[in-house]
Amino acid sequence: MEYNTVESLETLRGEALAEFGAISSEPDAENFRLKYLGKKGILRDLVKSLGSMSEDDRKTFGAAANALRREVEERFAEAPWQNKAETSDPGFDPTLPGYPFQTGSLHPLAKIRNEIVEILVSMGFSVAYGPDVESDYYNFQALNMPPLHPARDMQDTFYISENSVLRTHTSPVQIRVMEAQKPPIRIIAPGRVYRNEAISARSYCMFHQVEGLYVDENVSFADLKGTLLAFSRRFFDANTKIKIRPSFFPFTEPSVEVDVECFLCKGKGCNICKHSGWLEILGAGMVHPNVFKACKIDPEQYTGFAFGMGIERIALLKYGIDDIRLLYENDVRFLRQF
Ligand code: PHE
Repeated sequence: MEYNTVESLETLRGEALAEFGAISSEPDAENFRLKYLGKKGILRDLVKSLGSMSEDDRKTFGAAANALRREVEERFAEAPWQNKAETSDPGFDPTLPGYPFQTGSLHPLAKIRNEIVEILVSMGFSVAYGPDVESDYYNFQALNMPPLHPARDMQDTFYISENSVLRTHTSPVQIRVMEAQKPPIRIIAPGRVYRNEAISARSYCMFHQVEGLYVDENVSFADLKGTLLAFSRRFFDANTKIKIRPSFFPFTEPSVEVDVECFLCKGKGCNICKHSGWLEILGAGMVHPNVFKACKIDPEQYTGFAFGMGIERIALLKYGIDDIRLLYENDVRFLRQF
């Protein structure tokens, strides 16, 4: 059919819109576009008819042809399939509830250790480390326990070979630091220690300690007491009392054990403190002259104090845990509670 009158354009419009309405697929749409709107498409070809028209007809026909082409172009451009990418993608919906994130948490032992370390670092101690597999020399001899010394039996030892052991305490780090640094020395040494003990609710073959060492001229027993009291008041409670009892360690003289007032019953007596009102938390004392000599530090010029506390014991007390083995089983039902 030739389209060269305004009426014929009406027919064309009807046909084009009918076809447009029937489009149901992408190829349909493309065929429609080529047929009507492409370079050789019917609606573009209409200009050809203008040549054979009178001036007046040209004006009215031209205007009507342009209007029809624009109308079809616009409808085609706004058709839903043109925005396919957007309509098939649900996009981001800020009203949807978020995904629950499973975050982990720190192990109770790590928490207690971090708290202890933080307090002591704020008091001027820096952190030192030593190896878990130690030589007999560092674990015993330099700490004033020569071979066959009876005090070696205080700690049941795992031997790796004749001269190396799994360290039974963090005290060998004292020796390593005093060999490497000149006084003044103020260090703490957190770490694992190992003892060949029967495993029970109260003891395990591995546990954690934090060692402390302060060496300088004129360090006194009063400094030890003041440091431990200040520590206990920050760690437990601002009014905590401490009690210092005589004890024995080969590497300190005098040696003491330190109890803190039970933080649960405030000294009144309860199950946790076995009705004594006190909890034993650490061993301490003034560095033995023989230990200084082993590290080539002059015991006439320098004095020092050392202490060692067990992290498990404090964690069990603080969290009211009745079996130490729970700390190593990594049962999430247990760990989630901290
Ligand atoms: N190393 C001792 C122990 O494990 C604790 C201690 C450390 C005592 C430092 C005195 C000084 O039992």
